[in-house]
Amino acid sequence: MPLVHWRDHVSSHERRRKTEQTWWRNDRLDLANKIAGTVHMSYKLEVTDEDIEQAVVLLRAGKLVAFPTETVYGLGADASKVSAIRAVFAAKQRPADHPLIVHLADMAAVKHWTDVVPGEAWRLAEVFWPGPLTLVLPRAEHVPSELTGGQDTVALRVPSHPIALRLLNAFNGALVAPSANRFGRLSPTTAAHVHDELGDAVDLILDGGQCAIGIESTIVSFRQGRAVILRPGAVTAKQIEDTLHSEIAVPTQSSPRVPGSLASHYAPRTPLKIATEDDMENFLRRESANGPVAVLARRNRPQGTRAALWQVAPSSPTEYARQLYWLLRRMDDAGCQLIVVESVPEMPEWAAIGDRLMRAAANGFDLANEATGT
Ligand code: TXA
Ligand code: MG
Repeated sequence: MPLVHWRDHVSSHERRRKTEQTWWRNDRLDLANKIAGTVHMSYKLEVTDEDIEQAVVLLRAGKLVAFPTETVYGLGADASKVSAIRAVFAAKQRPADHPLIVHLADMAAVKHWTDVVPGEAWRLAEVFWPGPLTLVLPRAEHVPSELTGGQDTVALRVPSHPIALRLLNAFNGALVAPSANRFGRLSPTTAAHVHDELGDAVDLILDGGQCAIGIESTIVSFRQGRAVILRPGAVTAKQIEDTLHSEIAVPTQSSPRVPGSLASHYAPRTPLKIATEDDMENFLRRESANGPVAVLARRNRPQGTRAALWQVAPSSPTEYARQLYWLLRRMDDAGCQLIVVESVPEMPEWAAIGDRLMRAAANGFDLANEATGT
C-alpha cells in the first residue's frame, strides 16, 4: 500500500497486517521470538507522484500530513499558517510553549527563517544536511511565536528521506514536523505507529516503511553564537567537533529550552527502569514479585532468569537505535507491569540511545508533574 489514507481504506487489523506483516501476533508474553524474526525485515513502499500531490493539496488547505524522515515520522503542516501550527499542537496534545522544528527542502531556505547564520552553523549544514541534524538559530522577526513556543530562536532541519524531500520540494515551502506521536510518548518509526498514536487526528500518512535511524535528530543551538548540543542524536558530538575543529558544549539536564531534555519523555506506557548487567538478576528477582517483567538486553537470556519476556536487542548502536522505539512499543503491548532495559555502554556512539533510555526511565519513577515530553 503506497500511501495510506488509513481511515478510508483499511481496518486496524488489515493495517497491522499490511505494514508490519505476518510476524505480529496477539499472544502477548510470547512476543520475543516473533519480534526477533523481524530484525532484518525492511520494506520499501512506493509513494507515487499523485500521492505527493494529494499531500500537497491537503497541506495547502491547512491539514496535517504525516511523512517519513530518516529519523522518525513527522507530523507535517504548513509552517507559514498559524492555524495549521495550532492544529499540530492540538493533534499531539502538546503544550503551546514547546517549539516545533521547521523542515526545509534545502539550505537556501534557511535565510527566510533567520537573519543570523554563524559560520559554524553553515559549516554543519554543509556537512550534515540533508540529514539528522537540527540547527537552532535566532528567529527572523516574522516567524510566528506559535511556532517557536514564544522563544527568540527557530529550529531548522533539512531531512534526507527521499519521500520527505519530494514532499518539501512539491510543497515548495517549509513544513513544521514534530515527531508524529502524542506528547511524551515514543516517536513513531513506522506508518502504523503514527496511526496508533494519532488515529483520525492526522489527515494523511505517507508510508515510507521503517525509519533508517530510528531516534530523533541531533539538535545544536547557536543561540549564543557558539554551538551547544541540546539533544544528542545520530550526528555525534565528535563528528560536530571534528567538523568545527573546536570543543562543543554537551547537553545539561537543566536546559529549559528543549522539553526533550526534561524527564519522562520518549516513554512507553509501561513503567521502564534501567539495570546494569550485574544488577539484572537481583533486580528481576525483586521486581517479578510484583508481576510479569519484560527485559530488553544485548545478550541472550541467562538460564533461570525470572523475566516473562526477554528481548534480545542489537549489539551495534546504529541497529539498536533503529529498532529501539519499535521494540519498546512491542514490549509495551506485552501486558507486563515493568520493562527493564539493560544499561548501554557509556561510549560516545551510545550517547543518544543512553539519553533516550534515561528519558523513558523517568516515567518509571514518581516524578513531579513538570516531567514532560514532546
Ligand atoms: O528527528 C527529528 O528531529 C524529528 C523529525 C520528525 O524531524 N522531529 C522531532 O520534533 O523530533 P519534536 O517536535 O518531536 O522535537 C523537537 C525538539 C523539541 O524537544 C523542541 O522543544 C526542540 O526540538 N526545539 C524546537 N525548537 C526549538 C528552539 N527554538 N530552541 C530549542 N529547542 C527547540
Ligand atoms: Mg517528539
